[in-house]
Amino acid sequence: MSDAKLHVMDHPLILHKISMLRSKDTNTKDFRELINEIALLIGCEATRDLPVTECSVTTPIAEAAGYHLQHQVCLVPILRAGLGMVDPLLTLIPAAKIGHIGLSRDPATLAPVEYYCKLPPDVAERVVLVLDPMLATGGSAAAAISFLKKHGAKHIKMLNIVGAPEGVKTISEAHPDVDVYLGCLDEKLNDHGYIVPGLGDAGDRLFGTL
Ligand code: PRP
Ligand code: URA
Repeated sequence: MSDAKLHVMDHPLILHKISMLRSKDTNTKDFRELINEIALLIGCEATRDLPVTECSVTTPIAEAAGYHLQHQVCLVPILRAGLGMVDPLLTLIPAAKIGHIGLSRDPATLAPVEYYCKLPPDVAERVVLVLDPMLATGGSAAAAISFLKKHGAKHIKMLNIVGAPEGVKTISEAHPDVDVYLGCLDEKLNDHGYIVPGLGDAGDRLFGTL
């Protein structure tokens, strides 16, 4: 694996789709579909450097050089909003196992509160892709990554759709070994810990609980 790094996406389709995602006029159905499409595109970038082993494949015509992934993959959505990114990642990596980390932000302190965690027993051997559309203070992502490391995970990547500089700083200081793949780096957090300009509350918009 290469050195930890922040990868901010510049693919025109991601930029276009994030603009639609941000709009307050985007309804729940469209929001869900856009999260799915953007996560698929970010997933392609985040898996670009997965190590492969050479192998041989017999085609109906001849022997061909082929490749297979060296490591299996575990997807770990941070509940709730991270659930919206699972299906597109499974489209890319259908054999991935899935762990779940349930965290919600205390609205007063903005600190993450853990309410559910379940990981596959072989998580330590897998490349782990942590999924959450939003990286605000970075508290939830940092706590999720710490939990994964406590369970032996060594190769961890974080996939977010919208992030704030504060969140990127939190992750790079707490987990300098973790690459972050970010759809868009926004300006700042407001006094309530929301990303500016952001897109509002991702979980509420995804599940229609506004
Ligand atoms: C949101 C979001 C992240 C977290 C980001 O979840 O999906 O998990 O906030 O904020 P942070 O970087 O400051 O920790 P929320 O706690 O609102 O829960 P939800 O997904 O259930 O709505
Ligand atoms: N969580 C969200 O869903 N949106 C933000 O802007 C910050 C945290």
